[in-house]
Amino acid sequence: MRLRSIELALPDPAAAAAFMTDVWGMAPAGVEGETHYLRGSGTFPYLVAFARSEREFVRSTTFVCDADDLAAIAAKVAAAGWPARAVTSSDPGGGEGYVVELPDGELLRFLVGAGEVAPIAGADLPVKLTHVVFNASDAEASGHAVEDVLGFTVSDRTKGMVFVRCNDSHHSTAFARAGFASLNHVAFEMADIDAVMRGIGRLRDHGAVPAWGPGRHGPGANVYAYYIAPFGPVIEFSTAVEKVPEDYVAGAPEDWTWPPNRIDQWGISDKDFDGLRQAEERFRFHREWDAEPLHV
Ligand SMILES: [Fe+2]
Repeated sequence: MRLRSIELALPDPAAAAAFMTDVWGMAPAGVEGETHYLRGSGTFPYLVAFARSEREFVRSTTFVCDADDLAAIAAKVAAAGWPARAVTSSDPGGGEGYVVELPDGELLRFLVGAGEVAPIAGADLPVKLTHVVFNASDAEASGHAVEDVLGFTVSDRTKGMVFVRCNDSHHSTAFARAGFASLNHVAFEMADIDAVMRGIGRLRDHGAVPAWGPGRHGPGANVYAYYIAPFGPVIEFSTAVEKVPEDYVAGAPEDWTWPPNRIDQWGISDKDFDGLRQAEERFRFHREWDAEPLHV
């Protein structure tokens, strides 16, 4: 199971795509109608899709998996009674599978048979998405739900988050203890620390400073720099999160504390709490489809 892409809707997809290519450093991956696709240097055909809508919302977050994973998810989603339906993707790479709505409203799409593309050279392109984090009205319940129904595994719990993995990377998603459901942030995996730092430099050339970072996180141990995108959401340059073994023991909040006045491993990180919170509230989940019984 691998996190592949996020599909957003917003009023000016062309402007958002221009920022992601000209400033953030992604490559264009085509325009279909009014939907703009952006890719990284890795083998996924796209990482971000921007569709046009007067309203800002998250259409879906897409994972690619094998047929066995998909069958297991379909059976458990049907048994759990979550809203869901079969889908055939019309996005680059195609593929088919299911889109499901979690109890807190998150919309996750699982595809098999989605095509991949040749990687492209370019040390400063994001490689892929490393994680997509959601604000949850009940993060603990969300963590249990994805463990029970989707086969994901909680990696760690902190005062602020429940981190969840779907392969050997420490987390591909997480649920923030926000008290409301929305997109928390989208993290782009850079080739290494230098690529993260050069990304910060590129943003600085355009007058942008991180809303949080740079720094190195506790859970996942990734180096990060968060920005509030001009089109709304919080986006992050990140190194890969660390790999964990199958028998990794999930930490509890008391295992992940910082000394006074510190919020990262290096002790250098500042954070614009208010600005981030406002940005995190913008992109909610909106289901554009009607649920149908899954034939499992
Ligand atoms: Fe992150």
